[in-house]
Amino acid sequence: MEIIEAIRNRHSVRQYIDKSIEPEEIERLNALITRLNEEGKLNIQLVTDEPKAFDCMMARYGKFTGVKNYLAMVGKKSDDLDRRVGYYGEWLVLEAQRMGLNTCWVGMSYKKVPEAFRIEDDEKLVCVIALGYGATQGSAHKIKSVEKVARVNGEMPEWFRRGVEAALLAPTAVNQQKFRFELTDGNVVDARAGLGFYSKVDLGIVCYHFEVAAGRDNFRWK
Ligand SMILES: Cc1cc2nc3c(=O)[nH]c(=O)nc-3n(C[C@H](O)[C@H](O)[C@H](O)COP(=O)(O)O)c2cc1C
Repeated sequence: MEIIEAIRNRHSVRQYIDKSIEPEEIERLNALITRLNEEGKLNIQLVTDEPKAFDCMMARYGKFTGVKNYLAMVGKKSDDLDRRVGYYGEWLVLEAQRMGLNTCWVGMSYKKVPEAFRIEDDEKLVCVIALGYGATQGSAHKIKSVEKVARVNGEMPEWFRRGVEAALLAPTAVNQQKFRFELTDGNVVDARAGLGFYSKVDLGIVCYHFEVAAGRDNFRWK
């Protein structure tokens, strides 16, 4: 599956079938996690066959069932931790989608299981991403218009529109889509988060979608 297809097909999935992730897929995911942890200075950990995190009131209230695998999105405390968690987490989400797995970013609807992963004293668990074989493929979320979240001085280049459209397909907390993309100085893109719950994680997520669809050679970030 092409990555653009993964962007279009991905929806949050909260119900999973009782099937362990194939060992070769775990290996592929762990190899990518090692690479992205290095690049993003993170400590993301894949937790498998651990059902306790989603065996709680919050998860039941959020209608999660059958979740026993997840990514613990851990990193050293810093001002840009949320954004990096979003960016590299969404990279993993789209690769998982390409491998036939389903996902859901989860900030609230789970409980911390301290023995399942490591958090050093100077680190923080930002959120988790549920992972597995979905009972469904989820459904499309309501989408804001390109004009509502993007600004360009003059005519909007096709690559910029493609990037914003892909950003609008991305997961955001409570589907808030509180982000803005502005094209300045020809090919400089300024991406900003609005105020809201997890909006800096959202910003990292939407920037990953934007980069993939707009083409990294077409612009640079402000
Ligand atoms: C940072 C973040 C935190 C989220 N937290 C939760 C959560 O606690 N519970 C939940 O059910 N969904 C959660 N979601 C999933 C969003 O509700 C979902 O992405 C959004 O409604 C858009 O739907 P889609 O992912 O199917 O496109 C979260 C998403 C993000 C990006």
